[in-house]
Amino acid sequence: MGARPRILVTQKVPDPAYPLLEAVGEVEANTQTGVIWSPDELRRRGPGHEYIYCLLTDAIDEAFLTACADALPRTLMVANMAVGFNNIDIAAATRLGIAVSNTPGVLTETSADLAFGLLMAVARRIPESERFLRAGQFTGWGPLLFCGTDVHHATLGLVGMGRIGKAVAKRASGFEMRILYHNRQQLSPAEEAEYHATYLPLDELLQQADFVSIHTPYAPATHHLIGTRELNLMKASAMLLNTARGPIVDEKALVRALQNGTIAGAGLDVFEHEPAVEQALLGMENVVLLPHIASASLHTRTLMATIASQNIAAHARGERPPNILNPQVLA
Ligand code: DGY
Repeated sequence: MGARPRILVTQKVPDPAYPLLEAVGEVEANTQTGVIWSPDELRRRGPGHEYIYCLLTDAIDEAFLTACADALPRTLMVANMAVGFNNIDIAAATRLGIAVSNTPGVLTETSADLAFGLLMAVARRIPESERFLRAGQFTGWGPLLFCGTDVHHATLGLVGMGRIGKAVAKRASGFEMRILYHNRQQLSPAEEAEYHATYLPLDELLQQADFVSIHTPYAPATHHLIGTRELNLMKASAMLLNTARGPIVDEKALVRALQNGTIAGAGLDVFEHEPAVEQALLGMENVVLLPHIASASLHTRTLMATIASQNIAAHARGERPPNILNPQVLA
């Protein structure tokens, strides 16, 4: 590569990300906090950059990638500041010879903290009771005031037992929960012992769990993994937590299940048509809704931001990016 490569940063990210990029190339960045470029804007700005530093809210689809591959200079790599990469058409990128990277690992514990916090919030009705107090309705302790559901010794069903699922299991062990899990691949007996976790087929897990927490990646195979049939298998007292990706749950089916009392509650950090949320959910007291903040500690987001930069910097220096998702393009 002769001239310094051009790098486009599509959204405002934590400051430490920028010097790492400036060390290897010319940086053009969206500096407006909270401004997400539309797909049209992205397609207008992206082509002509060797590197695209993007976020999970950017649709890096085949049309965008093709335009980037056809432009001069052609795009060499897309670095996502997220562990999930369902916003990127990896198959198209690979076909077009564009490398793709993500930021795994650093957000595991932070995301697990939030997932467990969300479980606690739904079970113990924390946001609902806080709303009550702030509205001036707390007139005195009551024996039945905001009685919720016990978390300790309850049964937790983890759907997906990768890094984050395992980190949630560790937290659940502290609460002496019975831990069930479902995963594409069963863990080794040693790992099952380490996480005190028992493998079950999904249907059986849904039937037995008091809390079902989703930690699987989103892919065509996991689209609407939890729909009407699956919700009907759950206990009427059970609660569903989703901190993974919205479309894993059929949100309309979830609304019906909550309205009909098929399940008792839900905690959602992600939504099927994010940032839109099913209107009916907004009015439900037994549902806790968060704006996709599972990895949102400043420390973790800063790590994610710098790792995305390091992936670009490594490629620009002719090294293998540490978190390459399609290494075959480097061959
Ligand atoms: C991810 O990284 O995929 C999370 O959803 C956001 O941190």
